[in-house]
Amino acid sequence: MKILVINGPNINLLGLREPEIYGRQSYDDLVNFIRESAKKAGVEVELFQSNSEGAIVDIIQYARGRFDGIVINPAAYTHTSIAILDALKAVALPAVEVHLSDPSAREEYRHVSYVREACVKTIAGKGFDGYKEAIEYLKNNFSV
Ligand code: DQA
Repeated sequence: MKILVINGPNINLLGLREPEIYGRQSYDDLVNFIRESAKKAGVEVELFQSNSEGAIVDIIQYARGRFDGIVINPAAYTHTSIAILDALKAVALPAVEVHLSDPSAREEYRHVSYVREACVKTIAGKGFDGYKEAIEYLKNNFSV
């Protein structure tokens, strides 16, 4: 099984940005953690991070026929992007929405998730472990 992990805007600044919310570990630490989790689960993984909405739409389109599932933390685009929602619907790959923090326990403008409608599961508030859980969920439910 081949899984694409997508991280949206400002996730590249992990460790620097609001450490009281997102922790002190860096994006590189997250990449290593995800690679290790995938290895343990016995799945192939590729990672992509972008601050740009269009680039995220492009990589979702690219995933069709090349990957068996998507793990996505769209970051702030979660709360604004119908384009990312539409891309996920278009490719129809099983996708898991992940958030490091729990947006439902934060500002009201974070309570809406446009992408959720196109996802088989949402995992929030579990930090790095949320990505591991998402990979395992795809492996257990959507292995090819
Ligand atoms: C986030 C939550 C979003 O509300 C926020 O804009 C982010 C990160 C999270 O992982 O907790 O950038 O997706």
